[in-house]
Amino acid sequence: MKRLIIGHQSEFRERRARLVHIGNTEIAIFKLSDGGYRAIENLCPHKNGKLSEGIVCDHHVFCPLHDWKIDLNDGLVQAPDEGCVKSFQVEMDEQTGNVILVLSDTDILAS
Ligand code: FES
Repeated sequence: MKRLIIGHQSEFRERRARLVHIGNTEIAIFKLSDGGYRAIENLCPHKNGKLSEGIVCDHHVFCPLHDWKIDLNDGLVQAPDEGCVKSFQVEMDEQTGNVILVLSDTDILAS
């Protein structure tokens, strides 16, 4: 397990994404309108659209290229389309306000 501080909550804008690079993997961290954070790989499984540029609605993001709908909780593509985007764990440190990306050993090796 590795915990990376990726910024302070004041640096995140609601329903927008910030990008973090871990090895060759680009990760988009989204701040939801309920104040929660979610992280997924910034690569649509359809034709590699940049999900960080998509429209966020509730806990879903719509790919900017062909509008596939992806659940930010688990990375699952919603029907009628199918597929999955890798998702990552994000935490907020209530004391410092820092946003933390939690990477498993598998995440680090795969990047
Ligand atoms: S590239 Fe994302 S829907 Fe086509």
